[in-house]
Amino acid sequence: MDSIIVTGNGHLNGQIPIAGAKNACLTLMPATLLSEEPLTLTNAPRLSDIRTMAALLQSLGAEVSQLQSGRVLAMSSAALSNHVADYDIVRKMRASILVLGPMLARDGHAIVSLPGGCAIGARPVDLHLRALEAMGAELDLREGYVHAKAPGGLRGGVFEFPIVSVGATENALMAATMAKGTTVLKNVAREPEIVDLATCLRRMGAQIEGDGTGTITVQGVDRLHGATHPVVPDRIELGTYMLAPAICGGEVECLGGRIDLVGAFCEKLQEAGIDVTETGNGLTVSRRNGRVSAVDVATRPFPGFPTDLQAQMMALMCTAEGTSVLEERIFENRFMHAPELVRMGARIDVQGGTATVTGVDRLKGAPVMATDLRASVSLILAGLAAEGETIVNRVYHLDRGYESVEEKLGNVGAKIERISGQ
Ligand code: EPZ
Repeated sequence: MDSIIVTGNGHLNGQIPIAGAKNACLTLMPATLLSEEPLTLTNAPRLSDIRTMAALLQSLGAEVSQLQSGRVLAMSSAALSNHVADYDIVRKMRASILVLGPMLARDGHAIVSLPGGCAIGARPVDLHLRALEAMGAELDLREGYVHAKAPGGLRGGVFEFPIVSVGATENALMAATMAKGTTVLKNVAREPEIVDLATCLRRMGAQIEGDGTGTITVQGVDRLHGATHPVVPDRIELGTYMLAPAICGGEVECLGGRIDLVGAFCEKLQEAGIDVTETGNGLTVSRRNGRVSAVDVATRPFPGFPTDLQAQMMALMCTAEGTSVLEERIFENRFMHAPELVRMGARIDVQGGTATVTGVDRLKGAPVMATDLRASVSLILAGLAAEGETIVNRVYHLDRGYESVEEKLGNVGAKIERISGQ
């Protein structure tokens, strides 16, 4: 298993290109199952999760070609030879559940493994299933698999989500595109990845309104045609790299970054004393002199502060002036980075879903353990500003969501290198 060694090396300066969004690509790829015609995605990120999704689609009979070293995904599923998503793939990547809605909509049957939990929480999929049942799906859960049928095809329905769920919104939206009649989905997720999916589905001929708001209305169509669609920039990668000059000092331009993707996060950075400026090519982030100020954060569904940036913001707050309170309101166990940051000298008190961080002058480098994707990168950020050397172990977590992190940070002056493990 590879490790990454980071040594505190002062201010960062330069440009970091932002890739296409992992969490958009992971829902755009299953959309190819909705049509016999080719779907091509451009600006795709080069990540292990994308390769896992490609393997899953290929196991169902779809063709997936990763062109231009993975930047372009040329996909087609003229006919599906298999309608079973196996546990051994689904357990590795929960987003695999997103093939359920499209397979049901297209062929009226599917067997998909339940994903099981993961490090940050139980992460049930009950809302995915209830939304599909509202469209007439007949679901039978046995031996860890969902056996789904829609004999006469899905039909339009009305479903109000009791809590906001990104994945369940995506599954239901894709299923509704070819349900007979009108589907109204209420209390849906409003993330940019939802809007990106709806935009792609409209390009394929779907009739969708309201994406980006709390209610989406879909008029079902008989078939969808092929399309080419650019993946939206990754707002979580963007926010992560905006925090690099914030925690180290200096000035970094995040190329391709858009302020509309990171509104609430930007407000918190500015409240902490960080300057964020829109340029013609992206967003420039700079830290004036001195330490950042502590700010309080509570994670919420978009447009609130993203849970996927909570760990990274905690790293910044570890060296802030004052005390900050971070509330994790989306997942039940998303503070696993805290004990690792404490190993670096941070002062963090975790009580249930609330972490209280008292800033210290400077963190100290130490060997630390990556536990999940976003926790891993928060340790890298902390290491950038720490005195001495930090060794982040188990960086396979990191490679799921960040392309060549050591190259992107090294290009703006960070002292960072990857050590290949056995
Ligand atoms: C998506 O996960 C993202 N993953 C997550 O990013 C992100 O943290 C999350 O949305 C929230 O923004 C992808 O898009 C691939 P949810 P998802 O359904 O869809 C509960 C990363 O680091 N829930 O919005 O699984 C759930 O337990 C990953 O890139 C149910 O109870 O998240 C959670 O508490 C991590 N029943 C809350 O809803 C359900 O059927 C929000 O989860 C579904 C969800």
